[in-house]
Amino acid sequence: MLETNESTEIIKLNASEIRFIHKSSFGFPCEEAQLEVLPQPAEALYNAAALLKQDQIVAFPTETVYGLGGLATSSDAVSKIFEAKRRPADNPLITHFSSLTQLRQYLDNGIPTIYQDLIRKYWPGPLSILLPLPHSSTLSPLVTAGNSTFAARMPSSQVALALIHLSGPLAAPSANSSTRPSPTTSQHVFHDLHGRIPLIIDGGPCHVGVESTVIDGLSTPPIILRPGGISKEQIQRCPGWENVVVHNPGEGLLQGVPRTPGMKYRHYSPNATVVLCASSAASPSLQGRDAPVGVMRTISWNPINGTIDRHLGNTGDEISQSLFATLRELDELGCKTIFVEGISEIDAGLAIMNRLRKAATEVIS
Ligand code: TXA
Ligand code: MG
Repeated sequence: MLETNESTEIIKLNASEIRFIHKSSFGFPCEEAQLEVLPQPAEALYNAAALLKQDQIVAFPTETVYGLGGLATSSDAVSKIFEAKRRPADNPLITHFSSLTQLRQYLDNGIPTIYQDLIRKYWPGPLSILLPLPHSSTLSPLVTAGNSTFAARMPSSQVALALIHLSGPLAAPSANSSTRPSPTTSQHVFHDLHGRIPLIIDGGPCHVGVESTVIDGLSTPPIILRPGGISKEQIQRCPGWENVVVHNPGEGLLQGVPRTPGMKYRHYSPNATVVLCASSAASPSLQGRDAPVGVMRTISWNPINGTIDRHLGNTGDEISQSLFATLRELDELGCKTIFVEGISEIDAGLAIMNRLRKAATEVIS
């Protein structure tokens, strides 16, 4: 059972105060790691790691979105994650590691060759890879939800790496209430989960803003299960990934079971009606729409009179960074309708449009 915490503590931790040093060997930048911290943040980090070692759950910053972490080897901790988020139990979690040496302890036959170039280039970073689950794995079965694979990620946030180094591998979904937009600040986490978790580590706003790309290199051809912070174009440049396909949640159901279970649930939903104008030909019409109306503009729309206007940015990276925060903000401001200007699905646009389609109540093309 989850104990309800009377209060949720928020501790600020400045990433620049932490020195997490990855030693490279065999050409891997993230082989082994060493932690050097200044006295004050060290105390906060050690306290958070101590809570985790007692099977408690802690929200922490990553470069993508805030995660809700628990020891990946503890079913007690992992069940608290599912309960706090109200997440369906058949949706597996990503396990976060701080070095390759730590990850290898959870593998029988090392890291498959197909991933090696990707790891060299993009770890630590917003990329999660599917790995075979050893027969006698010490990961909690709740982490994998009965799959024969587990998802592994090495975040680049110094705070996240330092915490995982101290606590051990952390199972961590995004630290939102299920179906809400993922949190990119500690305030978003507090809004959704206060009273349900004991501690939030505040490392400032997340700079990527959308979740990691989840890839399956164990299938032929390899698959992008969820587009995210590393683009399809970046992945295609790695040997063995030239023909990577992007998983379409409508297809490839194995006896009704989606390849990546998270894809079947409604996601990223504010309370407002979200209208996505997916092509440049589509434009918003306020007629017949419930007010107040919010507008999230990207590349070419001009501000529209009588709306709460937000410009997400001019580049894919800027738009990714502000996407979830703006959906939440317009919701908080009481918008009944939110119009969103879509972008083309290249580079960062693929992940952005994937999240917007899931948030949308209506798509106009
Ligand atoms: O950026 C991120 O990935 C963030 C931060 C906190 O690291 N985490 C995150 O976790 O987005 P979550 O739980 O919200 O999404 C994990 C996704 C889900 O779609 C889940 O179904 C998929 O990864 N997944 C996890 N393990 C899997 C497995 N063994 N096979 C297929 N899909 C898996
Ligand atoms: Mg999530």
